[in-house]
Amino acid sequence: QLDPLPTLTPEFLNVLNKVCEQCYTDFAPDELEVGVREHILQDLETFVKRQFAGARLQLFGSSKNGFGFRQSDLDICMVLDGQDTIDDVDCITIIESLARLLKKHPGLKNILPITTAKVPIVKFYHVRTGLEGDISLYNTLALHNTHLLASYAAIDRRVKILCYVMKVFAKMCDIGDASRGSLSSYAYTLMVLFFLQQRNPPVIPVLQEIYDGTKKPEVLVDGWNVYFFHDLKTLPSRWPQYGKNTETVGELWLGLLRFYTEDFDFREHVVCIRQHGRLTTFNKQWTSKYIVIEDPFDLNHNLGAGLSRKMTNFIMKAFINGRTVFGTPVKAFPPYFFDPEV
Ligand code: CTP
Ligand code: MG
Repeated sequence: QLDPLPTLTPEFLNVLNKVCEQCYTDFAPDELEVGVREHILQDLETFVKRQFAGARLQLFGSSKNGFGFRQSDLDICMVLDGQDTIDDVDCITIIESLARLLKKHPGLKNILPITTAKVPIVKFYHVRTGLEGDISLYNTLALHNTHLLASYAAIDRRVKILCYVMKVFAKMCDIGDASRGSLSSYAYTLMVLFFLQQRNPPVIPVLQEIYDGTKKPEVLVDGWNVYFFHDLKTLPSRWPQYGKNTETVGELWLGLLRFYTEDFDFREHVVCIRQHGRLTTFNKQWTSKYIVIEDPFDLNHNLGAGLSRKMTNFIMKAFINGRTVFGTPVKAFPPYFFDPEV
């Protein structure tokens, strides 16, 4: 039922490429804005230490992974010095008392503890910058997956650009809000990375499969192996495919839309960035869901688990329409394409 796509002229590929590049230049924060985030974090840590002397706050998510927008939320993880983990009961107690404390902070508004979620958080609004944020406790795996995503972003600038394009696309199509039943930005980022690993030749390697010797090193966090290859300077000599893929971001973006609508069999396969070989929904016993995205470290976590059938169809339709829209030549930029004022 897919529209046939015309062969692409170099002129059209050029337009497509510019659209992708512009998406990045229009939405990426500058260094100043990165500094503002660190400043808010410092201020919050000082404030929280009034009541929790050993508190340490750390940014993660898009403030750190390389795919942040100017208005992205502040994802913050709090730990207490000298304490390695926390049980569920203590976690909820601390979240509630943290919320009471933050209500006294003059620069914050709309303090809201959410203790029923899988990861309990306290949400807040930072008045001066208009940024929203949330603080979670001992969200250690998230710190590690943030570092993994940042490493992929550092390998090739096309990774960064495509992840931006994907996030803009998800926002525009209204398919990018997990709290309203669709998928999180994190899930879409994993889809981009998986596509780039599966491309032939691949744009990025599988960092979790590069190691010395024959056995993958074990670095356990919350019972999961968070090992991945960090030493990116030596990647060219460790990964034979390095630099082999020379496609433009425009080609890759359309390639991605085609991959997920024409090639990838959602019924049978898992979006899985921790191994290059195929992983099936049958292997995982996750056959009741159509979109299955495995977390790279927490292997029991399917990012698509919360999707209804209706939402799944809605997301697939967005990809199918995207494929037609981005795959059909126009001579120049559509008017007001990325103009935030319109
Ligand atoms: N995360 C996770 N599991 C999820 C959702 C999120 O571990 N199911 C963690 C990831 O570390 C992710 C971070 O929480 O990087 C923030 O998630 P999210 O806000 O969805 O992604 P961002 O990259 O921060 O995107 P945005 O700019 O939209 O905030
Ligand atoms: Mg975020």
